[in-house]
Parts: sequence; structure tokens; C-alpha cells
Amino acid sequence: AIERTFSILKPDATRRNLTGKINAVFEDAGLRIVAQKRIQMSRAQAEAFYGVHRERGFFNDLVSFMISGPVVVQVLEGENAVARHREVMGATNPANAAEGTVRKMFAESIEANSVHGSDSPENAAIEIAYFFAGTEIVG
Ligand code: CMP
Repeated sequence: AIERTFSILKPDATRRNLTGKINAVFEDAGLRIVAQKRIQMSRAQAEAFYGVHRERGFFNDLVSFMISGPVVVQVLEGENAVARHREVMGATNPANAAEGTVRKMFAESIEANSVHGSDSPENAAIEIAYFFAGTEIVG
């Protein structure tokens, strides 16, 4: 089915001017960018977005990293978009990511891993609504 997923190009990607190269991987995989904006997240926004990880040891470092520079938030649309996007992102830890994936090609570390993607259609809807008004999404 045609789905939507939520994606973030993280500060390590914007810093190294890689947003176009990463978007090309998404588009080549059949994902369509139906909304996109470059923002500077606030600490409160990053803490709320990653709220499920609040008890994890890496939480404070993760939040600091996510506000260390601009990010590009996106809505991607396509056939099985959530799974397709996760496939082309590759494993969270670039050391485990398959050849040809965004994280294998571009990620610097498990923290500076270039991209975020929703892990389910349910979370995609929540994450999209966190950053986008319905009128900003043009399919
Ligand atoms: P993301 O998909 O954005 O969701 C949570 C993020 O936490 C994850 O990608 C990683 O970039 C980051 N992170 C940092 N350290 C770890 C870790 N040890 N295990 C999992 N995620 C981590």
C-alpha cells in the first residue's frame, strides 16, 4: 500500500552538505518527498521527539547532537514507505549497515548516523504531526 513515513537528515548530514546525495538515494528507491523543511530543533523539541529514549544512557548526548546544527525534516511517500525507507537507511550502527545504504555510505557513528526514520506506520503518523501541518504536505 502507499504509505507515508517521517525522515530526518541529521546535523552530521547538513554539516557535510550531503542532503542532496541522501535525497537521491531515497528518490531512487521510489520514495517521493511530499514535504520537507530545514529547521533548527530546540532542546525541548528534541527531548520530546526522542521521549521514548529518555531513560537510555545515550539520551543526553543524542539530544545535544540533534540540536548541534540544522536538520531537514521530511515526509516521504511511496509503496511500503516505512519499510522501504528503513531498508535504504541501513542498520542504526553504520558498522552493521549493508553496502549501498545511506548509513554505510555516509554515517560517521551510531550517534551521527545521518538519518532518522519512523519504525512503524503508527509512529510515522505521530512523528509527521509533530513537525508538519497537514497543509504543508503535498502528495
Ligand atoms: P534514531 O533512529 O534517530 O533513533 C534514536 C537514535 O539514538 C538512533 O537513531 C541513534 O542515532 C542514536 N543512538 C545513539 N547511541 C545509540 C545506541 N547505543 N543505541 C541505539 N541508538 C543510539
